[in-house]
Amino acid sequence: MFYIGIDLGTSAVKLLLMDSEGKIVNIVSREYPLYFPHPGWSEQKPQDWYEQTILGIEELIQDVDKEQVAGISFGGQMHGLVILDEDDNVIRPAILWNDGRTGEETEYLNNVIGREKLSAYTANIAFAGFTAPKLLWVKNREPENFARIAKIMLPKDYIAYKLTGVHCTDVSDASGMLLFDVKNRRWSEEMCDICGIRVGQLAKCYESYEAVGTLLPQVAAQLGLSPSVKVAAGAGDNAAAAVGTGTVGDNMCNISLGTSGTVFISSKQFGVDRYNALHSFAHADGSYHLMGCMLSAASCNKWWMDDIIGTKDYAAQQQPIEKLGENHVFFLPYLMGERSPHNDPEARAVFIGMSMDTTRADMTQAVLEGVAFALRDSLEVAKSLGIELKSTKICGGGAKSPLWKKIVANVLNLRVEVPESEEGPSMGGAMLAAVACGEYASVEEIAAKVVKVVETVEPEAELVAKYEERYQQFKRIYPACKPLFR
Ligand code: XUL
Repeated sequence: MFYIGIDLGTSAVKLLLMDSEGKIVNIVSREYPLYFPHPGWSEQKPQDWYEQTILGIEELIQDVDKEQVAGISFGGQMHGLVILDEDDNVIRPAILWNDGRTGEETEYLNNVIGREKLSAYTANIAFAGFTAPKLLWVKNREPENFARIAKIMLPKDYIAYKLTGVHCTDVSDASGMLLFDVKNRRWSEEMCDICGIRVGQLAKCYESYEAVGTLLPQVAAQLGLSPSVKVAAGAGDNAAAAVGTGTVGDNMCNISLGTSGTVFISSKQFGVDRYNALHSFAHADGSYHLMGCMLSAASCNKWWMDDIIGTKDYAAQQQPIEKLGENHVFFLPYLMGERSPHNDPEARAVFIGMSMDTTRADMTQAVLEGVAFALRDSLEVAKSLGIELKSTKICGGGAKSPLWKKIVANVLNLRVEVPESEEGPSMGGAMLAAVACGEYASVEEIAAKVVKVVETVEPEAELVAKYEERYQQFKRIYPACKPLFR
């Protein structure tokens, strides 16, 4: 049988077709626009997501026996607010995970309602990109839109709704809304009251590997698929990527170098860190995870290459970089503000330390290193909780760069294990569909059978020591710059 994994990303939807043994049969990617209507705002049109997803599925399955397609599931960009009215019209463009407009609402939730209450209700505090502050923003700034809300959903859930007619979400993505009681895996009535909404406006919440329904007859006919194709709830893209890289069970780590950058640590036990610096979310394998998320990771390199240097040949720009651990240039990667661990939507990117002999390669290197140092910030929080890691998986577009993998391994002092495919979320989505269809008994079982590590990057003691010194310097730059961002 075949399973379709849909990774509804920020720059594009990536679709993957997997067979029963976990072999990737086809991959398709289709882009859609991203809108920045004001500095720090970030929006997309749910209609664009759906249109490109349908075109992507058609292209993905054009050369296979469509009768063999059994299931579909998702990894989706998290936290985005999608609101529909009574007639299922999208009320306004989706407000995305990297949107920083909710400074005041975040402040209100953390300081007026209070971090303790938020953490007790949801296991998390408010971050500007989370969904609840966005709902409050719509309530305060667009009351006429707020009054029309019949259904609240997350990005991938809009696609599931259009495919099946079922208003559903999953525990991992729901965790990032700040409306979900993560420990008990159910909606928080208290948080709904705080945001002025009813639980009935939220979706029915499933485990990620559960089927929510089958394709609507008209959608099945359009795609040439059977109406009995099952659609599974899927997961937020990080939990889906963790499934796709085999980061399931206890104390496993995955680093994603996508538009965002994340350090994802799976755990059998529910846990919260004292300062809520890491997110405490439900995992797609039925358990929990901790996660640090930086808002701009591979997107820093993309910005530096595409917009500033003006090239698409990233490898050529990285080729002259040789001297690791000795760069005098530092880069703070906060192009869209920063989430973990600073929780500062007003933070901005900074280059510092250039001299007359600084080269373009030094600055390119600083961008790659700055992202690795910022990931290390999240890892340090995990270490302070007594979490000990020796290795990590890696995925996302940035994982294509051998140099970046080496920098990550040495800055974090972790063995980096590279899975066969860096397509984390779409692979995870397809795997969740296979579990929902009964092809595998559990997420852990399919991960053990299907995920293969094809390369290992070991940290080197000398380089680790050099990067340790650099990291100690890096850590001092943000506090020094912080007053300038105000
Ligand atoms: C996670 C987060 C990002 C998005 C990217 O909390 O905001 O990783 O999910 O799509």
